[in-house]
Amino acid sequence: MPRISYVNGRYEPHSDAMVHIEDRGYQFADGVYEVCEVARGFVVDMTGHLDRLDRSLSELRMAWPISRRALEVVIGEVVSRNRVRNGLVYLQVTRGVAPRDFLFPTATRSSLVVTARKIDPAVNANKAEAGIKVITVPENRWDRVDIKTVGLLPNVLAKEAAKAAGAQEAWFVDTDGNVKEGGSSNAWIVTKEGVLVTRPADHGILRGITRTTLFEVARKLGLKIEERPFSVSEAKAAREAFISSATTIAMPVVAIDASPIANGHPGSVVLSLRQAFFDVAEKRSA
Ligand code: PDD
Repeated sequence: MPRISYVNGRYEPHSDAMVHIEDRGYQFADGVYEVCEVARGFVVDMTGHLDRLDRSLSELRMAWPISRRALEVVIGEVVSRNRVRNGLVYLQVTRGVAPRDFLFPTATRSSLVVTARKIDPAVNANKAEAGIKVITVPENRWDRVDIKTVGLLPNVLAKEAAKAAGAQEAWFVDTDGNVKEGGSSNAWIVTKEGVLVTRPADHGILRGITRTTLFEVARKLGLKIEERPFSVSEAKAAREAFISSATTIAMPVVAIDASPIANGHPGSVVLSLRQAFFDVAEKRSA
């Protein structure tokens, strides 16, 4: 069965699905995106992802390409046409196709692409069993990383540096030595007292949808949360560290810059959050 993708009103074989060379996403990174997990046939936290898409679009004064309800139908179609039970759905909206000019085009419709792919859940389960390593890198992104734009070159380079160091994620660190977030995830620690700590999402990080759901999971498990900055040295001395994103859910971090966290094995708090996540998250059938 060939993979099917949605591009501007059409469902096409993935290998033939194209956007124009003067699409502003291609020329200016003038676009926004979302990634949702698909688990056991459900799209996870779709409401949260579409609310954030709405915010990203309005921050950039970009129009919805189709109505929200129509987009929900397209997401469901792409997931089911590709028979994805476990995997990801990706949606991207750009300001559309226009002759290259920095100013917003006036009569251009925004472009929409939706793709989905299967991922074997064992891949992440195995990763969670082993835990991942992160490196720290100086923050070098613009200050509107609260908008989920496709302008991800610093993230690409940071994650490439992580790979070169034998790690799987890079944490951006601000000039005060505090951890901001990962290249494609939010950053968390668990203190010696068992308190979850993550940076406030009002400025300087993306407000992760997984992060928001984990707040609810933590409350259910009776865990205390503090939203405050934490330093790299506090993280290295923490009882546990982990990352969160739609692609990883809650994923244990076992080393930061090659220094092991606690005994160098995944901690019990992150594993309990991971286990309870699906019960708490919103599930929409595709
Ligand atoms: N990234 N911070 C950044 C910079 C991210 O790119 C992401 C997600 C997150 C976590 O957000 P959420 O919990 O809503 O997935 C935080 C996606 C997965 C990606 O770019 O592939």
